[in-house]
Amino acid sequence: MSRIREVSRVILSQVASDGAGVKLRRSIGSGQISELDPFLLLDNFGTENPDDYIAGFPSHPHRGFETVTYMIEGQMRHKDSIGSEGVLGPGSVQWMTAGHGIIHSEMPEQTEGRMSGFQLWVNLPAKDKMCRPRYQNIEPENVPEVELPGAKLRLIAGEVESDTGVVKGPVTGVATDPIYIDVMLEAGGAFEHAIPEGHTAFAYVFEGSVNVSGRDVAQHHLAILGQGDHVRLSSETGGRAILVAGRPIGEPVARYGPFVMNTPQEIQQAVRDFQTGNFLAH
Ligand code: FE2
Repeated sequence: MSRIREVSRVILSQVASDGAGVKLRRSIGSGQISELDPFLLLDNFGTENPDDYIAGFPSHPHRGFETVTYMIEGQMRHKDSIGSEGVLGPGSVQWMTAGHGIIHSEMPEQTEGRMSGFQLWVNLPAKDKMCRPRYQNIEPENVPEVELPGAKLRLIAGEVESDTGVVKGPVTGVATDPIYIDVMLEAGGAFEHAIPEGHTAFAYVFEGSVNVSGRDVAQHHLAILGQGDHVRLSSETGGRAILVAGRPIGEPVARYGPFVMNTPQEIQQAVRDFQTGNFLAH
């Protein structure tokens, strides 16, 4: 039986700053909603004022979860503690599984113009929290674009049916079995998509206005979806949203800044490891 996922809650993202003063809009991980299992944080950065991003995110650690960066405009240089380095350009994706520990910096590679995109934090189950770090760096040309009547998609994770068959997103092997789609709707366009029952799901509107399963959601708002097996996005005037879903983990969350573990003891261990230089040695 088909049941549409209605919007259970709409949250206006909050203007915040992070890193060395990068201005952004935070929805998940803000005072309004601290987490949405398995998602721990959602930041939308987007500005044409270099003062808002130029200081970047200098060297910082992560342990116990995944950071997913989706660049829409602009360039960011990524450099980490195990020697990998590269530039994330417009349309690219980095799905980073921090596992037991990574220390990295994310710095703008430009001094003028617009920079925009998303960073999403996805939790890891206890059994994977201390895994070896893993990167999935996906160049823009490897993010499939699917043209549908009235809608264009960029498919980062999950599957979409098109007239040429099933298209699969490039991100694979993630514990929470995620869906991540950038949905661009023309005026009058609509897109319907299946989401497995039990998955946590949301849409974040970052351009125009999008109707999510019957409810109008304005720019900068997060729409959390209730249970069901599919969602419908449409727009009268045109709009753009990311549609994201993942299997909840259902474990205790102990969180301190860039460390997300299951218990306070594991957090203390992470802080100790970081302070004593043992963070990367496991
Ligand atoms: Fe980071």
